[in-house]
Formats: sequence, structure tokens, C-alpha cells
Amino acid sequence: MPTLETERLILRSFCAQDVDVMAQLFANPDFMRFSLGVFTERKQTIAFIDKVMGWDGVGIPSQFAVVPRDEDALIGYCGFFYHPEHQIEDIEIGYRLHPDYWNRGLITEAARAVRDHGFRDWKLSRVISLIHPENIPSRRVAEKNGMQVEKEITFRGFPTLVFAITREQWLAKYGAR
Ligand SMILES: CC(C)(COP(=O)(O)OP(=O)(O)OC[C@H]1O[C@@H](n2cnc3c(N)ncnc32)[C@H](O)[C@@H]1OP(=O)(O)O)[C@@H](O)C(=O)NCCC(=O)NCCS
Repeated sequence: MPTLETERLILRSFCAQDVDVMAQLFANPDFMRFSLGVFTERKQTIAFIDKVMGWDGVGIPSQFAVVPRDEDALIGYCGFFYHPEHQIEDIEIGYRLHPDYWNRGLITEAARAVRDHGFRDWKLSRVISLIHPENIPSRRVAEKNGMQVEKEITFRGFPTLVFAITREQWLAKYGAR
């Protein structure tokens, strides 16, 4: 799993030492907006970190820990998720950020780097983002990531917009990066 660098961020692999910081974030209702709810037990964070470290371990697209270049802090995640149990074949780009850092364009910066990584390094044919219709900031991030709404589905019991960008659209919009 490579480390990705953007203007203001380092996107690195997760490690076991991230459990404490991530447990605090997963317990924060703002960080967990539009989710099934905050994590109330440490073992839920351990399961998340184990899951993404497992993806890194077997060499498939995974999640990145979001770290500002100018700060020794872990402020969220941005990367790939899988939903085969919901009959969704496409790989999702998903993200959450510490609320103190919202609205500075940081997740847009991270999501663009993850999108480019997916198409360039993993040769993905398509990536999607699954977003509640009322989640305006996330919809904006997906739009700024070059995605378009494809359809509305029910996902985990909630109305959900499927934003998507294909490899061909990515090449046409941004050229090979
Ligand atoms: C979604 C999230 C990751 C966005 O992170 P971020 O770094 O603040 O995103 P950005 O700053 O790159 O972009 C946010 C955009 O939403 C816009 N926005 C934010 N709140 C808004 C509001 N109430 N109304 C309209 N636009 C809004 C911002 O202005 C910005 O758009 P702009 O660049 O056109 O001005 C962050 O809000 C978050 O962690 N939310 C909780 C978790 C979540 O919802 N994750 C996504 C699940 S699908």
C-alpha cells in the first residue's frame, strides 16, 4: 500500500497504534453523521482497523489514514470500501473527517488522490460513493471528485444516492495522471 501525498495531506496505511485516536473519532456524533451510529465499544474500532489492515495485507485497495502535513495528527479516513453483502459490486470511495477540519477542502483533496490512485494504480473500471441525499457536504465532495449521480437505492435501510465515475470519464476529464 503506497503512501499518497497531496498539497496539505499525507494519506498513509492504518496501523494498530491508530486505535486510540480512531476510537475517539468513531465516538464523535459529528464524525459519524449519516452512519448507523457512533461506536460505543473499543472493539468496534479494533475491528475497523483490523479490517483495513487486512486489505493492505492481502494487497487490495484499502483505506488511508488522513494526516495533515504540518501536524502530528490523525484526522480521519479516506479510501476504498467493499459492499458485496449488499449486492454492490463496485468499490466505494468513503471518507470521514474530524469536524474541526471541515470545509477547508481537505477531503476533496484526499478523495481526488484516492480516485486517481484507484484508476492509475489499481486499474479500476469504476468507483462509486454512496451518499444520503441530505448529506450536502458529502454530495459536494463527490461532485468535486468528478462523480455524477447515477441512481437512488436503499442501502442499510436508508435512501442513498449512488455517485459514480468510470475510468473512461476519468481519462476524458483529467487525462492519465
Ligand atoms: C463529508 C465530509 C468528509 C466533507 O469533508 P470536508 O473536508 O469538509 O469537505 P470539503 O471541504 O472538501 O467540501 C465540503 C463542501 O461542502 C460544502 N458544504 C458544507 N456544508 C454545507 C452546507 N450546509 N450547505 C451547502 N454546502 C455545504 C462546502 O462549502 C464545500 O463545498 P465547496 O468547496 O463547493 O464550498 C465531512 O463533512 C464529514 O466528515 N462529515 C461527516 C461524515 C460523512 O458524512 N461522511 C460521508 C458519508 S457519505
